[in-house]
Amino acid sequence: MRKNKIARPNMDTERMEAICLSGADGPLYRISEDKVAKFEWARDWTDWFCKVSPKGEKVQNEYEICKKLYENGVSVPKPYGVFMLKNPSDEEWTELWFPRRFPAFVMEYINGSVPHPKYLRPELHKRVDELVATERDKIEGLGIRPSDAMGWENTLWVPEKEQIYLIDFSRWQFTDK
Ligand SMILES: Nc1ncnc2c1ncn2[C@@H]1O[C@H](COP(=O)(O)OP(=O)(O)O)[C@@H](O)[C@H]1O
Ligand SMILES: [Mg+2]
Repeated sequence: MRKNKIARPNMDTERMEAICLSGADGPLYRISEDKVAKFEWARDWTDWFCKVSPKGEKVQNEYEICKKLYENGVSVPKPYGVFMLKNPSDEEWTELWFPRRFPAFVMEYINGSVPHPKYLRPELHKRVDELVATERDKIEGLGIRPSDAMGWENTLWVPEKEQIYLIDFSRWQFTDK
């Protein structure tokens, strides 16, 4: 894991909220007013404590992709870094006896929702598609290969700002790596 410029973010128990517990590589928690942490661990029934990916390669890659996009004006959550953090759902006794930390990609909390077409008016659906396409176009030439056909699934829609944020770069790659 590379050294981060900012200090390890505070975990604010008052704002702690599980956003997504069924993530492919780990859960996602809101850890403070303005930050979320996307954890990485392997799910393996042989290891009750969950195997920690030693270096957090997946979240590190996701952070670096997000950073490159952010720096190039693509609408993505502001990336802060990868940090070793406590699993918010660990019991106190676990923390006392077996304190453990997991690699997590910390980014800006976006107060939006995944724009499922089922719940959007057709005009709005069209607008969301256009905005997603606009962000997608900006990726060209950045040396980044997006995972699959991008649609609304891995985006967050903030109606107040009329803004779409691309999220979930876990399967995106740098073309030169
Ligand atoms: N920065 C964020 N702010 C707020 N919610 C987020 C953020 N990133 C992800 N989420 C929420 O968490 C869900 C899972 O995140 P995602 O990165 O897509 O994980 P996975 O790799 O498990 O699909 C998203 O569908 C979204 O609802
Ligand atoms: Mg996703």
